[in-house]
Amino acid sequence: MQLSGLLIIGGGGHGKVVADAAMSSGWSHVAFLDDRGQALGSPAGLPILGAVSELQAHAGKFSAAVVALGNARRRLLLQEECLAAGLEVVSIIHPTAFVSRFASLAPGCLVLAQAAINVDSRLGRGCIVNTGATVDHDCVLGEGVHICPGVHLAGSVRVGDCTWVGIGASVRQGIVIGHGVTVGAGAVVVENVADDVTVVGVPARGTSK
Ligand SMILES: CC(C)(COP(=O)(O)OP(=O)(O)OC[C@H]1O[C@@H](n2cnc3c(N)ncnc32)[C@H](O)[C@@H]1OP(=O)(O)O)[C@@H](O)C(=O)NCCC(=O)NCCS
Repeated sequence: MQLSGLLIIGGGGHGKVVADAAMSSGWSHVAFLDDRGQALGSPAGLPILGAVSELQAHAGKFSAAVVALGNARRRLLLQEECLAAGLEVVSIIHPTAFVSRFASLAPGCLVLAQAAINVDSRLGRGCIVNTGATVDHDCVLGEGVHICPGVHLAGSVRVGDCTWVGIGASVRQGIVIGHGVTVGAGAVVVENVADDVTVVGVPARGTSK
C-alpha cells in the first residue's frame, strides 16, 4: 500500500531510522522538522523543512506525523501538537518487525527492524521498540516508553510511563518497572523497580544518581 505525506519531528539518528522504517513500510513524501535545520544536511536523503516551531506552517502539506525524539515527555507533548495541527499521529512498524495480531499499540509507536511484540501485549502512545528488541506476551508498556535496541522483556512485564530501558538489557518475567526509570545498558532486572530511579548491572541495582 502506498501512503503519502509523513512529517517526522526529529531528524537526528533516530529520526533517520524511523524515516527508513516508514519508507520501507510504504510511506512516500517524507520530510523532517528539526531545530538543527540545515546543520543536519539531508538525513536519509530527505529534506529538513524547518524548525519544530514551524509545525503549524508545514502541517497542511502532510496527512500524518510521527515524533522521533528520544526525550519521552517532549515526544508525548509534540504528539499532541501534531494532532492539534490536524495531523494524524501514526505508528510506524518496520516490515521486518513482528507484531502479534493480538497485541495493541496506541498511536505514535515506533517498532523498528527485527523487533517483536508478542501476543496480548499493550503499548501506550509514543512507545519505541527499537531495533531487535523483544516484548514478550502480556507485557504492558505505559506512554513514552523506550525499549532500546536488543532489549528483551520476558512475559507479563509492566513498564511505567517515560521509562527508558537501555540497550541490551533483559527483564525477568512478571517484573514491574515504575515510571521515569532508567535501566542501564546490559542490566538484568530481576526485582521490581520503583519510580524515578536508575538501575544498572547484573543483577540490576539502584545507583545514587
Ligand atoms: C545508566 C546510564 C544512563 C548512566 O549514565 P550516567 O549517569 O552518565 O553515568 P556514568 O557514565 O557517569 O556512570 C556512573 C557510574 O555507573 C557505572 N555505569 C554506568 N552505566 C552502567 C551500566 N550500564 N552498567 C553498569 N555500570 C554502569 C559507571 O561505570 C560509573 O561507575 P563508577 O561511579 O563506579 O565509576 C548509562 O551509562 C547507560 O547505560 N545508558 C544506556 C545507553 C543506551 O541504552 N543507549 C541506547 C540508545 S538507543
